[in-house]
Amino acid sequence: MERVPTGIDGLDELIEGGFPRRRMILVSGATGTGKTIFSAQFIYKGAVDYDEPGIFVTLDERPDLIREDMLQFGWDFKKEEEKDMIRIIDASIAKAGLPSEEVYHMPESGFDLDRLLVEIIKAAKEMGAKRVVVDSLPALGFRYENENEIRKAILKMSYVLMKSGLTSIITSEIPEGSKQFSKYGVEEFVADGVIVLSYLGGGGPTVRTLHIRKMRGTAHSPYIHPIEITRERGMVVYPIDEI
Ligand SMILES: Nc1ncnc2c1ncn2[C@@H]1O[C@H](COP(=O)(O)OP(=O)(O)OP(=O)(O)O)[C@@H](O)[C@H]1O
Ligand SMILES: [Mg+2]
Repeated sequence: MERVPTGIDGLDELIEGGFPRRRMILVSGATGTGKTIFSAQFIYKGAVDYDEPGIFVTLDERPDLIREDMLQFGWDFKKEEEKDMIRIIDASIAKAGLPSEEVYHMPESGFDLDRLLVEIIKAAKEMGAKRVVVDSLPALGFRYENENEIRKAILKMSYVLMKSGLTSIITSEIPEGSKQFSKYGVEEFVADGVIVLSYLGGGGPTVRTLHIRKMRGTAHSPYIHPIEITRERGMVVYPIDEI
């Protein structure tokens, strides 16, 4: 099985070298647990360290704010965008019916999953992308009544992205206090891998954690690992014996 290095220090060694190529990984966690940083790091390091062009679809945050935030870690998205190694597709304000000033964006007249997928495939072809992030899934605002419809939509998404040769990350929120691994409780079944990020609060060295809940075709670490977010290295995962 071919592996895709994640670009997150300490993670690849816990999952036999990286994500399985052309699979969909769900990164979930409550608010502020680092889902966007994790995903952006996957795209940025993919482009800079592994020469793999990537697409970052943002539904939650405006692209200019993402660029600004990521520059804090020394990740110059703008520079990679100029080389067409990274594209940010802005779907953040289209949902609210507002026009985007971004080069790549969804129409303010509205869009759905199909439209978004068409846009991703088009961009992926043009730039030869190998990686894609959709941050976040709940922001797509599924209006589907039943779980089965949502499950089908996500399945379709994973199939289409896989067919385009993309290894993908989708992010989802875990409602505070919930025992689910995702917003709808179905994402984790469809995804090929599930990574759960947590913020325990209260200070101390293990305040943030990462748990590989599943990774199909992979003998992965069963432990809850401490992680750190630092200006110098972005997100870093530690072996449990370092606690
Ligand atoms: N330079 C930094 N050093 C340490 N921690 C940082 C730094 N920058 C951001 N953080 C931490 O990362 C958190 C934000 O991470 P991120 O935006 O990836 O979370 P998220 O899970 O995507 O949250 P959201 O629910 O807003 O989408 C901040 O709340 C902060 O705790
Ligand atoms: Mg986020």
